[in-house]
Amino acid sequence: MSERVSIHGIWSSRMAFVLAAAGSAIGLGNIWKFPYITGENGGGAFVLVYLLCVAVVGLPVMMSEILIGRRGRASPVNTMRYLASEAQRPRFWVLLGWSGMLAGVLIMSYYSVIAGWALAYVFKSAAGVLTDQTAEGIASIFNGFVTSPEKLLAWHTIFMVMNAIVLSRGVRSGLEQATRFMMPVLFLLLLILVGYAYKTPSFERGLVFLFTPDFSKISAGGVLTAMGHAFFTLSLGMGAIMVYGSYLPRNSSIALAAIGIAFLDTLVALLAGMAIFPLVFANNLAPGEGPGLIFQTLPVAFGHMPYGAGFGALFFIMVVLAAWTSGISLLEPAVAWLVENRRMARIRAVALVAITAWLLGILTIMSFSDWAFVFSFLGEVKRNGFYDLLDILTANFLLPLGGLAMAIFATWCMLPASVADELEMGNGLLFRGWYALTRYLTPLAVAIVFLHGLGLVQPVIRFVQGLFSVPVGGAA
Ligand code: TRP
Repeated sequence: MSERVSIHGIWSSRMAFVLAAAGSAIGLGNIWKFPYITGENGGGAFVLVYLLCVAVVGLPVMMSEILIGRRGRASPVNTMRYLASEAQRPRFWVLLGWSGMLAGVLIMSYYSVIAGWALAYVFKSAAGVLTDQTAEGIASIFNGFVTSPEKLLAWHTIFMVMNAIVLSRGVRSGLEQATRFMMPVLFLLLLILVGYAYKTPSFERGLVFLFTPDFSKISAGGVLTAMGHAFFTLSLGMGAIMVYGSYLPRNSSIALAAIGIAFLDTLVALLAGMAIFPLVFANNLAPGEGPGLIFQTLPVAFGHMPYGAGFGALFFIMVVLAAWTSGISLLEPAVAWLVENRRMARIRAVALVAITAWLLGILTIMSFSDWAFVFSFLGEVKRNGFYDLLDILTANFLLPLGGLAMAIFATWCMLPASVADELEMGNGLLFRGWYALTRYLTPLAVAIVFLHGLGLVQPVIRFVQGLFSVPVGGAA
């Protein structure tokens, strides 16, 4: 069978792919969510569980996603269409491509709004607006900001245009160039910020908080949170990594690339925790503030520290860079599809996709402010109803389902020979270990996370217990 070629071009090297995919993986999920859920779930013990989840679920799914992409060499929709027919599987597998494309645009619609906040905070911080404020002062600045639709719209628009510019330049001179420049800057900023945190008297307390395992603090819920997060933070289950994989040159080890991406992603999450928590503790603030952590707690800390305005601005520049390299990966599957199927010039495809995500984003903006009442049909909805809805729909449903489907497709539907050929690992123990893991353990683990998202874990456990306890327990 002849080797397929990508009509969009390919990365210049495996390294370029690793940087671009790490750019996709490293995002808002690393910088605020990871530190916060770590704090909530017992610190070090949670970190260990999370690392295990990356190994058992994250890496196998990532390898599946990359190998599917590279074999298909096209947008997720066309890749799935081609691979399903190659393996003589039902056409419905193409739905995996469609759901990925949809999930990407949906995630981007709110991701861009939040990234817009970070953009605004670069300027607020640099201008000294956040300096020497009390917690109440910062909270009222934040609340005033997120309930001003016109301001959010402006920043959302700017962020979307930034993404559109990179996307319209194509794979090599857009995505690759941008990540090649932005990722090193991001790392540099992060190291500077960790250095800044090191200067505070609370650095050690931050480390203890992050790295001392206390297994009594970790619950079943914590384990499931860790697994769910492994998905989101590695950008899995949606086709972002698949489409990036479709640009991966031949003769580049997929396993090594996946390990590199997961390593960088985890490193950034840990370093972000090391930059954030010491500042929070040094100012006697609470670490478990959730979404408020970087926009409300952290600015209070920066506002009371030497050169806080400058370092605060650097922090938010870092957040913007992280979100930018993630945003482009969320839209690329749809862009690639339009170019392939509609024979559209790339720039027009980008405009169409970006405008769609931008329009959808307006719903998120409105749900933070005036329009909140429109979403009251969702039940006891607070101000951010639509944002919550999108977040739950994508992170709890579409991504785990997508990842599950990818692991299943790679190990139950594709021909084992195609898989072995694509992974270029030979047919040794390593390959067979990966195959067995991905075929059995990974789908099981993901299915459990998914059922958890649906709130069905307890009922299923009770059902299974019921099955077994009746005959065994007998008369009791
Ligand atoms: N991984 C990114 C983060 O941690 C978000 C992201 C980008 C993403 N692309 C994705 C999540 C694709 C799921 C699927 O912020």
